[in-house]
This record gives sequence, C-alpha cells and structure tokens, in this order.
Amino acid sequence: MILPVALLLAQVAGPSTAGASQQKCGTCHAKEAEALRSSPMAHALQKPADSDLLQKNPDLNFHAGRYSYAIRRQGDRFLYSVSDGTDTLAAPIQWAFGKGIVGQTYLVERAGTWYEGTVSLYSGTQALDLTPGHESLPRRTLDEAFGRKIDSPEMRRCIGCHSTDAVWGRATAPQSVLPGVQCWQCHKDSQQHAAAVTKGDVRNAKIAKLSTLTTEDLGAVCSQCHPSWAEVSSKGPRGPLNVRMQLYRLTNSRCYDSADRRISCTACHDPHGNLETSASVYDSRCLQCHGPANRPVTANACPVAKQDCTTCHMPKVELPGMHYQFTDHQIRIVRPGERYPN
Ligand code: HEC
Ligand code: HEC
Ligand code: HEC
Ligand code: HEC
Ligand code: HEC
Ligand code: HEC
Ligand code: HEC
Repeated sequence: MILPVALLLAQVAGPSTAGASQQKCGTCHAKEAEALRSSPMAHALQKPADSDLLQKNPDLNFHAGRYSYAIRRQGDRFLYSVSDGTDTLAAPIQWAFGKGIVGQTYLVERAGTWYEGTVSLYSGTQALDLTPGHESLPRRTLDEAFGRKIDSPEMRRCIGCHSTDAVWGRATAPQSVLPGVQCWQCHKDSQQHAAAVTKGDVRNAKIAKLSTLTTEDLGAVCSQCHPSWAEVSSKGPRGPLNVRMQLYRLTNSRCYDSADRRISCTACHDPHGNLETSASVYDSRCLQCHGPANRPVTANACPVAKQDCTTCHMPKVELPGMHYQFTDHQIRIVRPGERYPN
C-alpha cells in the first residue's frame, strides 16, 4: 500500500527518519544540499502532484491501434485510463518516474496489481507516446493494453534506483520511501557521520572523501544505478540502446584510464547539480589531456578544431520513439557513415 502524501511527509519530517538526516546535511553542507535540491537525480521519483511536467499537461490523449489513452487531472490526482471504445480501465497514477529530462513513465495500481503505463509523457514533444519497450508488447485485451505488469522484484529495482531508503513489507509497494537520489546513496557512511558531528563525537565523525577515489572506484559509486561496463558487456543491450549506459560507453573509449581522475564521471559532471548543456564548458575537460597546458602531454591535439570538442567526438544518438538525443560517451573520431560501434 502506498501511504498518503501527508503521512509520507509527516514520516519524512520525523526525528529518526532519512528526511531529517538530509535536512541535517544541509545545515552544514548548504552548497551541496542547495545544488541537489534542483537536480534531476533528486527528483527521479515523484508523486504525480509534485510533477511539473504533469501539472503543465493536465489533459493528455494518445491513440494506439484500437485503444485510446488519456491522462487527466482530477483535483490533485491524475487519472490514467485506456478505452477500446466499449470498455474503459482507469486508475490514479501512484508514481511518476523521472524528473522528465527525456520523459516520465507512470506506475499505476489497479485491482491490487502494479502496471507500468503503456504510454509515457515525453519532454521533447510535451505529448504521450509509447513507453520504451512497449512497442513490441501484445495488446490483445484491454488488460494487456492497460500496461505491463510489474512484479515485486522489478518494483524493488525501479524504486531502488529512483529513490532512497525504501522500506519494504511483503507487499509490492514500499511502506515508505524518500523519493529521488539523496546524499547517502552516494556518501555511504554519511548518516553515521552526521549523527557523530552533531553530537561532537569527533572520533566517529570521519567520512570518506569521494573526490579522492580513483576513477574506477568512483564509477562503482555511480554504477549502483548507471549500469557498469561488466553488466552491459555480459547482459547487453547491444546496439544504440546502450548509449544510455555511460560507464560502458566511456570505458570503451581510448580516452579512458581507470587510474586517471581527469576522465572520471565527476571530471565532467557535478554529482550534486544539473547537467551542463553548453558544449564549450566541456572543452577544458578534454584539454586537461589533449591541450598544450597539460604537462606531461599524454594525448594528441586535434588537427581539426580548437573548441566545442564534444559536438564532433561525443555524437548525439536519437533512439526511436524517445524524442531525445542521448550523448555517446564513447569518445572517438566519428567517420561519416560509420555504424554505431558496440
Ligand atoms: C553538524 C554539521 C554536519 C552535519 C549535520 C553533516 N556534516 Fe558532513 N561534515 C561536517 C564537517 C565539520 C566535516 C569535516 C570537514 C573537514 O574535515 O574538512 C564534514 C565532512 C563531510 C564530508 C567530507 C568532506 C571533506 O571535504 O572531507 C562529506 C562527504 C560530508 N561531510 C557529507 C555529509 C552528509 C551527506 C551529511 C548528511 C547525511 C553530513 N555530511 C552531515 C559537518 C557536518
Ligand atoms: C541511486 C541511484 C543513482 C546513483 C547512485 C547515481 N545516479 Fe545518476 N541518475 C540516477 C537517476 C534515476 C537519474 C535520472 C534522473 C531523472 O532525470 O529523473 C540519474 C541522472 C543522472 C545524470 C543526468 C542528469 C541530467 O541533468 O540529465 C547524470 C549526469 C548523473 N546521473 C550522474 C551520476 C554520477 C556522476 C553518479 C556517481 C557519482 C551518479 N549519477 C550516481 C540514479 C543514480
Ligand atoms: C539500475 C537502475 C535503474 C532501474 C532499475 C530503473 N531505472 Fe530508470 N533510470 C536510471 C538512470 C541511471 C536513469 C538516467 C539515465 C538514463 O536516462 O538512461 C534513468 C532514467 C529514467 C527515466 C527518464 C528520466 C528523465 O528525467 O527523463 C525514466 C522515465 C525512468 N528511468 C523510468 C524507470 C522505470 C519506470 C523503471 C522501472 C520499470 C526504471 N526506470 C528502472 C536507473 C534505473
Ligand atoms: C549522485 C551521487 C551523490 C549525491 C546524491 C551526493 N553526493 Fe556529494 N559528492 C559526490 C561525489 C562523487 C563527490 C566527489 C566529487 C569530486 O570528484 O570532486 C561528492 C563530494 C561531496 C563533498 C565534498 C567532499 C568529498 O567527498 O569530496 C561534500 C561535502 C558532499 N559531496 C556532500 C553532499 C551532500 C550534503 C549531499 C546531499 C545534499 C550529497 N553530497 C549528495 C556524490 C554525491
Ligand atoms: C569527458 C566528459 C564527460 C565524462 C567523463 C562523462 N560525461 Fe556524461 N556527459 C557529457 C556530455 C558532454 C553530456 C551531454 C551534455 C549536453 O546535454 O549537452 C553528458 C551527458 C550525460 C548524461 C545525460 C544523458 C545524455 O545522454 O545526454 C548522463 C546521465 C551522463 N552524462 C552520465 C555520465 C556518467 C555516469 C559518467 C561516468 C561514467 C559520465 N557521464 C562521464 C560529458 C561527460
Ligand atoms: C584522461 C585524459 C583524457 C581526457 C580527459 C580526454 N582524453 Fe581523449 N584520449 C586520451 C588518450 C590517452 C587517447 C589515446 C591517444 C591519443 O589519441 O592521443 C585519447 C584519444 C582521443 C581521440 C582519438 C580516438 C580515436 O578513436 O582514435 C579523440 C577524438 C579524443 N581523445 C577526444 C577527446 C575529447 C573530445 C575529450 C573531451 C570530451 C577527451 N578526448 C578527453 C586521453 C584523454
Ligand atoms: C568539427 C568537428 C571537430 C571538432 C569540433 C573537434 N574535432 Fe577533434 N577531430 C575531428 C576529426 C574529423 C578528426 C580526425 C582527423 C583525421 O584523422 O582525419 C579529429 C581528431 C582528433 C584527435 C585525434 C588526433 C590524433 O592525431 O590522433 C583528437 C585527440 C581530437 N580530435 C581531440 C579534439 C579535441 C580535444 C577537441 C576540442 C578542443 C576537438 N577534437 C574538436 C573533428 C573535430
């Protein structure tokens, strides 16, 4: 059972909960807390009422074959429905997955079963389209058309990557959960640190400094949720779908060196902030290794251009039906007409 939002918030504000610790991090680490507050990772899971994307789109419709889909605001709820012209199945959305950089996918509970909605809302078009992976699913009955059934292990995986501190009973839905990726998903020992510093217990206040990890060890922090090289190389996916597995793509690049911090995820991304979308900002990162200022010089300079490196060497890949261009982290020379290198 999903707790009502009010109860959830009451729990989050309670003295011994995750939410309280998070506020405590912010009292001493204001910069990181402020940055994280607006970042996509902190909003990777939302109650529908908290989703800006849904609030901006209160009346959505989509047709697939003989089925019509709708997502409509009703007071503070959003009702997800599918109709075949004769019958209609409907249920309120319980969870919106994703801040909505690419888009949002909805989880709905109907008659005790959880479904991933057949349609998702895409930011690029501000419209519904099929959820990734649903193109090939059968829709012979209204129940099949409604969505894809999510069993308990899968629910745990989805919630696990998109939120923090989920407490599971035996049911499919978490009894309580703190939506989004919070500080201690990455800073593993930080809650014990927070409790100790607050008490002035210096001995137990120590905490690992993630900025001193090697590139490989930092990758392991991120690969709790962004799949690792080992995972993708053994289980796939093959082909352009793996452009979303940045760790895998980057590791395949000639630039990658597991011992060199200049090619770690955080050399280019602020783990607490928003994605930088201006290409020129990344130039200084490349020039750390490919520039003349780099001593000793470890890599060649470009014979073609001096700026906006990522526009040519980290090409954008549009996946069918996703209305978004992903960035290929396999940094390389792109030859005209080449096939996507796996
Ligand atoms: C009462 C104040 C306080 C609270 C609450 C607190 N910290 Fe800290 N934190 C500190 C101090 C002081 C340091 C030590 C800084 C140093 O050694 O330079 C520190 C160090 C850190 C470091 C290592 C930083 C570095 O430069 O060495 C991290 C990471 C960190 N805290 C994360 C957290 C997280 C996450 C939380 C919440 C779960 C949290 N802290 C709660 C005061 C606090
Ligand atoms: C607990 C799971 C989890 C961990 C750990 C995690 N991420 Fe994420 N990350 C996500 C999810 C989920 C999203 C999608 C957020 C959204 O848009 O809703 C995301 C999105 C991102 C984005 C895109 C943000 C944007 O503005 O589009 C970047 C960059 C990113 N993560 C980098 C990192 C790095 C670097 C690390 C390791 C230091 C890391 N992540 C660790 C789950 C995680
Ligand atoms: C292994 C961890 C993991 C699992 C399990 C997982 N996700 Fe994600 N999800 C991510 C990461 C990391 C991102 C950001 C990178 C990307 O877009 O591929 C993301 C991105 C998304 C986005 C796009 C967010 C945006 O802002 O555009 C949606 C929607 C989404 N996930 C839905 C789901 C749903 C629904 C499930 C379960 C059926 C699920 N995810 C399971 C890690 C995970
Ligand atoms: C997505 C993973 C992730 C989340 C969530 C996250 N951090 Fe960090 N944090 C990192 C990484 C990685 C570094 C090291 C950055 C670097 O390489 O310079 C870091 C660095 C820091 C530092 C500097 C000390 C150090 O470890 O190098 C502090 C302080 C800190 N984080 C506090 C916080 C607080 C407080 C929160 C919650 C508001 C938070 N972080 C959330 C991944 C994360
Ligand atoms: C050399 C720089 C660089 C490194 C290292 C790097 N990224 Fe990126 N990343 C980028 C650029 C450039 C973009 C696209 C920014 C934009 O939207 O214009 C991006 C975008 C992303 C996105 C948003 C989705 C997309 O495809 O656009 C995610 C998520 C992400 N990176 C995760 C990671 C993770 C996880 C790592 C570590 C394995 C990593 N990145 C390492 C440069 C880098
Ligand atoms: C940690 C250092 C490092 C960083 C950071 C780095 N590279 Fe590299 N890169 C290398 C090394 C080493 C090679 C292999 C030797 C060479 O070609 O100079 C390489 C090779 C390349 C190649 C040739 C690849 C091929 O297929 O032959 C290109 C293109 C390239 N890098 C572009 C970039 C761009 C663009 C960035 C920033 C987005 C970047 N690199 C960041 C170290 C780095
Ligand atoms: C307009 C597209 C474009 C931009 C922008 C660009 N490059 Fe290149 N780069 C190329 C092409 C094409 C080649 C291959 C040249 C050849 O071998 O014919 C190349 C080659 C390279 C190589 C391989 C050099 C060698 O001798 O092995 C590196 C390294 C490189 N670029 C890095 C960069 C960096 C760093 C930047 C940003 C400062 C950058 N590039 C900007 C198109 C570009």
